[in-house]
Amino acid sequence: MFNSIKLRLVIWFLVVFSIFFAGLELFLYYKLEEVTIHLADEHLKSEVDTLANLMAIEEAQGQLESELQELAAAVTGVYAEKLSGHYYQLVSSDGVILVRSPSLSLGDVSLPVYIGTPEGDYRTVSGPNNVPLRIISQSFQFSVGTLTFQAGDSLKDTYDLLSSFRKIILFVFPFVFIVCGIGVFLMTGWALRPLKTFTSKIGQITEENLGERVEERGAVMELKPLAASFNTMLGHLEESFSRQKQFLSDASHELRTPTSIIKSFCDVTLGRERAPNDYKEALRKIGDTVNRMCDIINRILVISRLDNKTIQFKPVKMELMDLMKDVLKLIEPSAANKGIVIKIEGTGVSIRGDREGLTEVFTNIVENAIKYNKPSGRVDINVSDLNGNALVEIQDTGIGIPEIEKEKIFDRFYRVDASRGVTVGSGLGLSIVRTIVEAHGGTVEVTSNLGQGSTFHVYLPKNPEIKNGTA
Ligand SMILES: Nc1ncnc2c1ncn2[C@@H]1O[C@H](COP(=O)(O)OP(=O)(O)OP(=O)(O)O)[C@@H](O)[C@H]1O
Ligand SMILES: [Mg+2]
Repeated sequence: MFNSIKLRLVIWFLVVFSIFFAGLELFLYYKLEEVTIHLADEHLKSEVDTLANLMAIEEAQGQLESELQELAAAVTGVYAEKLSGHYYQLVSSDGVILVRSPSLSLGDVSLPVYIGTPEGDYRTVSGPNNVPLRIISQSFQFSVGTLTFQAGDSLKDTYDLLSSFRKIILFVFPFVFIVCGIGVFLMTGWALRPLKTFTSKIGQITEENLGERVEERGAVMELKPLAASFNTMLGHLEESFSRQKQFLSDASHELRTPTSIIKSFCDVTLGRERAPNDYKEALRKIGDTVNRMCDIINRILVISRLDNKTIQFKPVKMELMDLMKDVLKLIEPSAANKGIVIKIEGTGVSIRGDREGLTEVFTNIVENAIKYNKPSGRVDINVSDLNGNALVEIQDTGIGIPEIEKEKIFDRFYRVDASRGVTVGSGLGLSIVRTIVEAHGGTVEVTSNLGQGSTFHVYLPKNPEIKNGTA
């Protein structure tokens, strides 16, 4: 359930919103309480100051006693109304109440007695009728001793205000919470709609329509990189699918020719009674064709193992000159048959690489140099060190390769038309060469003069990071 982005967003928003909103409301509530209490305190302070000033004036005139009497009698307004919520009283230093405002005395109640401090002592207490009261107790020095003025104001209005505020908060919070929750739910649904469209578009792509692409330009910003990567992946898949299809059709096509040859030899030979030598000749020709088929099948196998990454290259340190000499030993008999002279020279270069793979590479190139050479031609091999890489050049005096075919000859099953009539072959050798060289981090190129010969240049890093079975 929590796997849903939509739900996670809604939950996150609501958690953050609740913390923020609750914090803000608590802050406002306590601020309001603080401000109203502060206002009440200021009012109380001004009340006791006024009373104390009156007392001081009367004391200066020697009428302190009479003032004490007047303080209780000659009061009007809220202090004269019984239990009005506004009170004052005067307390002696030993806690005896000397004077009470009529609002207290008429109800026969008094404020809780506290001996005040010169700065004023503020408290919230339970007053007459259990009404919450804010009282100040402040002491003043008179000729008769230290007297404490106490004044109190009911906090009922303040508490009513705070309680209304609390009720509003308690109503507003869940309301805003629900409205915002629904809003965010709808908004995230709307925001994630392009992802839904994107997913359904991807869902429609199968191997049948790999050519289709996901719209990148119309996609929302966040999905653009995903669309681009997906399209790149589709491109690779399409290419790999079509390469496989092509490979399959080329492979069957290549195998069909020798199979038809064998079939027609059999049909013709068995068409009538023949001399034993004719049968021998027919079997020899069939044997040659089968050898050719085996050769093609072996190469197809190598390619499919390279594609499927089942060939594991094992890099070992080796002298390139030694490797080339071993290759020549394998090839010399066929060179001798054609009267071709092979010469090898160069410097000692040691590299790391898969011995079997590199033997395959150079055997194929040198085999081609012999196959597509003129009778009594030459093959010159040069091994050198080029800017820290190994370079092997195989130059022949053969038929050459047309400029426009120079890249194509590395494609699978590709054979230059002119060579089709000249020699047998499957067109797979050079594609295997390129795959192995590239897996070693190297490159292979060809330069050629038509009718005069070709040179294959193989560059190999001396210490490559070998990509096993890739490329
Ligand atoms: N040294 C060369 N001189 C001229 N043409 C060449 C040379 N090497 C390769 N080619 C051309 O490139 C084509 C591809 O070569 P590749 O080795 O891949 O296939 P192939 O030799 O025809 O068959 P095989 O799979 O048996 O090697 C050849 O058919 C040939 O036309
Ligand atoms: Mg070849």
